[in-house]
Amino acid sequence: MNKGIFISLEGPDGAGKTSVLQALLPKLAAFDMELVTTREPGGVAIAEDIRSVILNPENTAMDDKTELLLYIAARRQHLKERILPALDGGKLLLVDRFIDSSVAYQGFGRGLDVKDINWLNDYATDGLVPDLTLYFDINVEEGLARIAKNRHHDVDRLDMETVDMHERVRQGYLSILEQDPERMVKVDASHPLEQVIEEAFSIISKRFFK
Ligand code: TYD
Repeated sequence: MNKGIFISLEGPDGAGKTSVLQALLPKLAAFDMELVTTREPGGVAIAEDIRSVILNPENTAMDDKTELLLYIAARRQHLKERILPALDGGKLLLVDRFIDSSVAYQGFGRGLDVKDINWLNDYATDGLVPDLTLYFDINVEEGLARIAKNRHHDVDRLDMETVDMHERVRQGYLSILEQDPERMVKVDASHPLEQVIEEAFSIISKRFFK
């Protein structure tokens, strides 16, 4: 039985979800729940090791299914070591990327079968889905322009993807949104950061703390 609250943050690269997550923390501290934040792929040592294999720019030979299975393996370990203990401990858990990233990137982006991915996600998580998913939506040109402007890390393997791939990823998110409008809520990430933070905060407050 889960006692905590599980919120995932999703969106195409450059939507700003990671900055929003950081800015939400002091605001969410007003609610009487201990906060835990984490990210995928990664979040725990074994999954961070898998992350470095996935993102390594030298791994140009990586097959799409290999990539999917690595994300799924990282997710399983992260679930066992981080997500379930946090929820069992009654925490308010915010996860930067989760199951929907695999559907959007490996499914819509790479063209792997979404049915297979749904099955693999379900297998890895024993059917656990977030209570709420905030989807930060931004059009591809704007997202890519933000990444170019804010770049503060070395180029990784996934930064080298084509504009077409980013477009398909966004369409993937919009399709999940259409199918699961109860769980997934869209936030317009093209607005100024302060406004995006306020909107995300207001959605969480209304859903869980009204
Ligand atoms: P990261 O540098 O953390 O990107 P961001 O800050 O945008 O979250 O790299 C994570 C990348 O991994 C990102 O491009 C999305 C991708 N990804 C997938 O393709 N499938 C997945 O299942 C997950 C969790 C991430």
